[in-house]
Amino acid sequence: MKNVIIVVLLLIIGALGFIMTKGSVAPSTDNRINVVLNKDERDLVLDEMRQFLISVQGVSSAITNNDLKKVEELAHKAGMAAELNTPGALLQKIPGGMKKLGFGTRGLFDDISAAAKAGEEPLALRKRLDSLMNNCIACHAAYRLPEPLRDL
Ligand code: HEC
Repeated sequence: MKNVIIVVLLLIIGALGFIMTKGSVAPSTDNRINVVLNKDERDLVLDEMRQFLISVQGVSSAITNNDLKKVEELAHKAGMAAELNTPGALLQKIPGGMKKLGFGTRGLFDDISAAAKAGEEPLALRKRLDSLMNNCIACHAAYRLPEPLRDL
């Protein structure tokens, strides 16, 4: 029992450390936070972003067409499954608040996928997508990715 408590405490401390990391940040000129990445890391994140937009469009249009199977598939692809290949070095540079929003968004895509699988009504699925997009807005309002002047 004691060991279980210790393991749980360690997991909580680890999770807090992960979320509260400062990351590789600098002030920006527009009151957001600059997240300073090297060229390849920035390209990777922006590529994921363009993929996010494609996913939102795909899920939205599948909802409109009442194609629950497609909603389930597309939302799953945009969920946590998409994070498996994110390099650890990149994750360390992402500030905790941004990681929380990023993983939160992945989690909401997984929720949409599960809800579609369970046969949820299209209107309810659309409401989930509407609120997921508040995460896109919140993160863009808070963070930016400056183009590196030299390869860091
Ligand atoms: C965890 C934070 C975060 C979340 C969540 C997020 N984005 Fe982004 N996104 C960013 C940042 C940071 C940039 C770079 C903005 C800048 O430098 O001004 C960006 C840029 C983009 C770009 C521009 C890509 C390019 O090639 O320049 C698109 C498109 C985009 N995001 C779409 C989305 C969509 C759609 C969602 C929601 C499904 C989303 N993002 C959620 C952080 C996020």
